[in-house]
Amino acid sequence: MRNLPDVYRGVDDLRAALLPLRREGKTIALVPTMGALHAGHLSLVEKARELADIVIVSIFVNPKQFAPGEDFESYPRTEASDLQKLAEHDVFGVFAPNAKEMYPNGFATSIQIEGPALGLETDHRPHFFNGVATVVAKLLLAVLPDVAVFGEKDYQQLRVIKQLARDLHLPTQIVGAPTVREDDGLAMSSRNEYLDDKERETAITISQTLNTARNALHNGENWIEVRKKALAVLKLSGFATDYFELRHAKHLGTPVDAKGSRILVAAKVGETRLIDNIEV
Ligand code: PAF
Repeated sequence: MRNLPDVYRGVDDLRAALLPLRREGKTIALVPTMGALHAGHLSLVEKARELADIVIVSIFVNPKQFAPGEDFESYPRTEASDLQKLAEHDVFGVFAPNAKEMYPNGFATSIQIEGPALGLETDHRPHFFNGVATVVAKLLLAVLPDVAVFGEKDYQQLRVIKQLARDLHLPTQIVGAPTVREDDGLAMSSRNEYLDDKERETAITISQTLNTARNALHNGENWIEVRKKALAVLKLSGFATDYFELRHAKHLGTPVDAKGSRILVAAKVGETRLIDNIEV
């Protein structure tokens, strides 16, 4: 069995461990996560390994990106098994701070982000991107990686983080990696664990609907009609849809043309909210 990666709880310890490597000229990649690692996260780690000499994975369930009543308390926390999984992927270290390390008493800074953060998720979770932007800025400044890898499953988040890095001159290249899917097409997510058997069956409708909509656009169908049909299918299969939208793939505004755009969806089955997206 491989050795477990070293775990750093404090920013100072992590920086001290990285300093000699940086001095040797080694490049560093960061994969930020909230833990409960699955094959999707591990594909981000593999991508990070291709892009840099050493890989740090952060595990932190960030309270600032959950609103009261959301699943912060119940979010799966599986550090021991996460470390076992990472041991198989040659990770240099895991940064797993507690909430006090990230947000000590008196913490008073929040990053407010607009542009690609407007609409979609923000219409339904208005607190979300400020929480993500704040924690990701902190993680990037703690590690100062050459590159950081994020999943395209959270596509709006990826665009928001690219905007953040650009606007703050963060010296890190932000890289997106493709969504990893179950055999039936469901995008992998730590929240899939919440689904019961019936909901799990229903959940495949999300990726099926995205594929159908993309194909219809390729066949020249009109977006208004395509969207109407998609919403009807999601409703019939038991989803309550928050949004099903066609957006420009970069700035996430209204696209001039379906080509180079992305369809993004968020919908709830039972208590579980799933998101997914597809390139058109
Ligand atoms: O995508 C996630 O897991 C989280 O939003 C992130 C980027 C780790 C920030 O907490």
